[in-house]
Amino acid sequence: MSKVIAVVNQKGGVGKTTTTLNLATAFSTIGKKILVIDFDPQGNATTGLGVSEKRKLIGSYEALIGEVSPEYAYQKTPIPNLYLMPASLHLSGAEIELVGLKDREKLLSTVVKRIESFDFIFIDCPPSLGLLTLNALVAADQVLIPLQCEFYALEGLSQILYTINQVRKHLNSRLTLQGVVLTMFDNRSSLSTQVANDVRHHLKDKVYETKIPRNVRVAEAPSFGKPAVVYDLKCLGSQAYLELAREILAQEGKLAA
Ligand SMILES: Nc1ncnc2c1ncn2[C@@H]1O[C@H](COP(=O)(O)OP(=O)(O)O)[C@@H](O)[C@H]1O
Ligand SMILES: [Mg+2]
Repeated sequence: MSKVIAVVNQKGGVGKTTTTLNLATAFSTIGKKILVIDFDPQGNATTGLGVSEKRKLIGSYEALIGEVSPEYAYQKTPIPNLYLMPASLHLSGAEIELVGLKDREKLLSTVVKRIESFDFIFIDCPPSLGLLTLNALVAADQVLIPLQCEFYALEGLSQILYTINQVRKHLNSRLTLQGVVLTMFDNRSSLSTQVANDVRHHLKDKVYETKIPRNVRVAEAPSFGKPAVVYDLKCLGSQAYLELAREILAQEGKLAA
């Protein structure tokens, strides 16, 4: 069975897509078979992997509404072991369109259950806690929360944690918080450090040791259609993502033992 990780934060621009793509790539380079589901209508994970307009005609939306079976909705990427279910054009209407459907919060879960043979499936979520993110939380085993160290970060965090608890209670009892990763960390900023300390104080070992630094090479990578760890493996941002991958796998190992 695949382990399904939803990458969630209702704020935009906090590093969800960057974290999804770089972790997915890091895992794939050590031989894990990975699927990324682009579940954000903005489609940044799709463009971030260099997928052309033509190749994103069928994707997560078509699988979700049952127009195609799941294995026809994903495709190979240039990165070995890494597959992508793109965000097609129609995903932008889904949030409203799905409201009228029966079991509307379980659609992605049904899709994911029919996909076999991946070690990990990452779901890159849109910046809201709406119906698409709810579908991701119902489909997932674990939630990974990228958190940008800024003033309102904690406020947003309590909303996500509340939502996770509600989903666990009513819709998906196996859902757990895999962890919180601090992104775009700037160690010259006292606010960054303060927020990081506050988050650790509240969530203790649920916050990863590895912090992702703000890094120009990470910001440049998407415009080349590559994850940072492929675009420039040596830069500090990429190295941090590799370290995060190691930390997560070590944690998985402990859980499995
Ligand atoms: N560590 C980082 N250093 C510099 N820029 C970053 C870093 N992480 C993300 N970015 C940039 O910040 C923007 C928002 O990141 P993104 O991953 O798209 O956030 P989200 O998916 O949460 O909206 C993007 O332009 C991305 O390239
Ligand atoms: Mg995104």
